[in-house]
Amino acid sequence: MKQFFRPYANLIALISVFVVLYAVAGFLWGGLVLDRANWTRRVNLPVEQPIAFSHQLHANSLGMDCQYCHASAGIVAYSNIPPSDTCVTCHHEVKRNSALLEPLWESVNNDTPIPWIKVHDLADFVYFNHAVHVNGGFGCTTCHGQVNEMPVVWKVHDMTMAWCLDCHRNPEQYIRPADQVWNMEYEYPSNAEQAALGAQLIREQGIDKEVLTNCAICHR
Ligand code: HEC
Ligand code: HEC
Ligand code: HEC
Ligand code: HEC
Ligand code: HEC
Repeated sequence: MKQFFRPYANLIALISVFVVLYAVAGFLWGGLVLDRANWTRRVNLPVEQPIAFSHQLHANSLGMDCQYCHASAGIVAYSNIPPSDTCVTCHHEVKRNSALLEPLWESVNNDTPIPWIKVHDLADFVYFNHAVHVNGGFGCTTCHGQVNEMPVVWKVHDMTMAWCLDCHRNPEQYIRPADQVWNMEYEYPSNAEQAALGAQLIREQGIDKEVLTNCAICHR
């Protein structure tokens, strides 16, 4: 058969195959990096909410306890965002006519929840349980940072599997006395002291470290 392509055409074909493969690999790798990147995971990016509710104002300046609004974090698997009624307790008097509170009255009058945007939202195939962690001696600030100083809430950790496992492999580094979990001002002692205190608290809580890296506890 007569040669249709000139010899170097084969070389060009071969090179283009590599260029395409390289581009595809780069694209996939880029996607992975981007998926893990803080920007796509919205770490340290304040999340704008339907009402300009400020934790800094309510928790710090007004001195409200987290439990006033999120008590279930220590009781059941899911933490909760308080219903509009909780806000009404005060705001039927305080700043009642503020324009900033209009979405609250809309929610109350229409009997619909305020459409709060979730700041932390694990994938559906991951199981998480608040009460187990909170009762085990892990404080709000360890996972959520200084929420009491945030005018608008943001994520301080990327909440990837690696982040969960960093603690599940070695929970001694983060555990604190159980009566300190709601304390926003809690300070961990020096590394050496925390190592000793951590080991003691893990024993006292009866935490079985061996099971904490089993796939099946988080993927059920
Ligand atoms: C007056 C009620 C109130 C108090 C007190 C309060 N919160 Fe909240 N919290 C809310 C509301 C409403 C939201 C949803 C809007 C937002 O994210 O700002 C929220 C959101 C959050 C979120 C993000 C939830 C998500 O979407 O993933 C965290 C974490 C949180 N609060 C922790 C705390 C901690 C820790 C304290 C104590 C320092 C506290 N809150 C005190 C009402 C409250
Ligand atoms: C324990 C009483 C209390 C509760 C409960 C409470 N607030 Fe407030 N809130 C206040 C006070 C006090 C202020 C500050 C008023 C001022 O600046 O004089 C305030 C201020 C605000 C403001 C700013 C209003 C403005 O015009 O500056 C918003 C918005 C707000 N709260 C939303 C909420 C929402 C949403 C909830 C429910 C998740 C809530 N608050 C629950 C007491 C409360
Ligand atoms: C071990 C880490 C950890 C600790 C400790 C922890 N949280 Fe969370 N919190 C999470 C994770 C992870 C989520 C997201 C859960 C999901 O999407 O299923 C979350 C979600 C939330 C939410 C949003 C719930 C919702 O319905 O959207 C609130 C509110 C909250 N946490 C408050 C608290 C408070 C208050 C404390 C302290 C008593 C606390 N958390 C302690 C990891 C933690
Ligand atoms: C700061 C430490 C810490 C972080 C971060 C953490 N965990 Fe845990 N988790 C623990 C400890 C310790 C236990 C064991 C508690 C016990 O046995 O009392 C536990 C237990 C659990 C359990 C078992 C609950 C049960 O019903 O027995 C699940 C599921 C779990 N964690 C999921 C997660 C997921 C998912 C994440 C990440 C989004 C996460 N954890 C992040 C420390 C942590
Ligand atoms: C402590 C909780 C925890 C344990 C234990 C755990 N995972 Fe995960 N896993 C997660 C979380 C959280 C995510 C979601 C991460 C995200 O959103 O990127 C995840 C995601 C995944 C994914 C989806 C791909 C990805 O990286 O997002 C796979 C596959 C997976 N896990 C497999 C496993 C296997 C296999 C094991 C056992 C060797 C395991 N996991 C143990 C918490 C856990």
